[in-house]
Amino acid sequence: MKTWPYARIIAHRGGGTLAPENTLAGLRKAKELGFSGVEFDVMLAADATPILMHDETLERTTSGTGAIAATAYRDMLKLDAGSWYSREHAGEPVPSFERAGALCVELGLWANIEIKPAKGYDAETGRAAAQLARALWSGAPLPPLLSSFQPAALAAAKAAVPELPRGALTGSIPPDWQSWMRALGCVSLHCDYRLLLPQQARAVREAGYWLLCYTVNDPEIARVLFGWGVDAIVTDRLDLIAPDFS
Ligand code: G3P
Ligand code: MG
Repeated sequence: MKTWPYARIIAHRGGGTLAPENTLAGLRKAKELGFSGVEFDVMLAADATPILMHDETLERTTSGTGAIAATAYRDMLKLDAGSWYSREHAGEPVPSFERAGALCVELGLWANIEIKPAKGYDAETGRAAAQLARALWSGAPLPPLLSSFQPAALAAAKAAVPELPRGALTGSIPPDWQSWMRALGCVSLHCDYRLLLPQQARAVREAGYWLLCYTVNDPEIARVLFGWGVDAIVTDRLDLIAPDFS
């Protein structure tokens, strides 16, 4: 089986715990600390602009209120997505995926783009994220890896941009995981490390798929997972798990 060609240690939501999540500041922090790969979440605003956002509502990570799917991006531009984290990050914008992706390419950051649709927008989000990812990374040495918990989002990404690699996101690995991987044409399985058994890790690798675990914040656990054959981990603790950790 081909060796995992991407970063083995991936900074979660941009800068993990060292910056406000899903922001340009987070991407810059990951780069500053020497990380070569980042994960972030992409959702559609009401006007279908793909943005970096984890929650379906604005409250937790911005100065705004209401649903992402009901707020146009021009209105999100007035919001502060950094003050909830620290005073130093006040005024940090909600980044469009276009801007964040361009910054990744400029900084030489590879990305695991998690397609995170608001409820009811699986296909639209998958299609839009895949098309923009293809355009943004067209000249980059490594294509980004698209992943999602939503099979319909991955199916739409596959239909729109079949050439971009896809990863299936899950909590625990379901019994029918292989048929699911085949149907969605996925190259990797992304699971919650707390629900992974060593024999499952072996089975995934033996079936010819790469295996990624989230969100691993303890170096000892990371070591155990790599010992099981896990290819990559997503971490919040950029301060504890160095980019060259193995
Ligand atoms: O992609 C791995 C991880 O980000 C999935 O969980 O909720 O942090 O997006 P979440
Ligand atoms: Mg995510």
